[in-house]
Amino acid sequence: MRHMILGAALALLLPVAAQAEGDAAAGEKAFAPCKACHNFEKNGVGPDLKGIVGRKAGTYEGYNYSAALKNSGLTWDEANLKEWIKDPKAKVPGNKMVFPGIKDDKKLDDLIAYLKTKG
Ligand code: HEC
Repeated sequence: MRHMILGAALALLLPVAAQAEGDAAAGEKAFAPCKACHNFEKNGVGPDLKGIVGRKAGTYEGYNYSAALKNSGLTWDEANLKEWIKDPKAKVPGNKMVFPGIKDDKKLDDLIAYLKTKG
């Protein structure tokens, strides 16, 4: 029993320790260009992004994904999300998100910190 509690505590702590700290408030600003196509309430031009961190790619109910994204086999952990937002075309060739990408690493970390608040 004690073992289980310790394990659960570690599982909670490790992801925090492993990642660069982003600033969610700055991330909200970095999300501005995404708003044309995304929100956290319903599907629009792009899929609803509620709970995106940890979600399996191409699986949000009711959204008509490209085959490329649906069959990508990706799960949106922080590393995959970062690569995707940096250069969507390179990460999943043939996807239909028309966005050139955000190249600034700090902005990417902030953005992901913000997305994590939208669980
Ligand atoms: C011009 C519209 C547009 C903009 C701007 C845009 N996206 Fe997207 N996004 C899409 C579309 C369309 C898809 C679905 C792609 C597909 O099915 O191939 C998508 C998919 C995604 C996915 C995968 C969702 C899933 O359920 O697998 C993520 C994550 C995402 N976008 C994040 C972002 C972020 C973060 C930004 C801003 C930095 C952004 N997008 C900007 C249109 C856009």
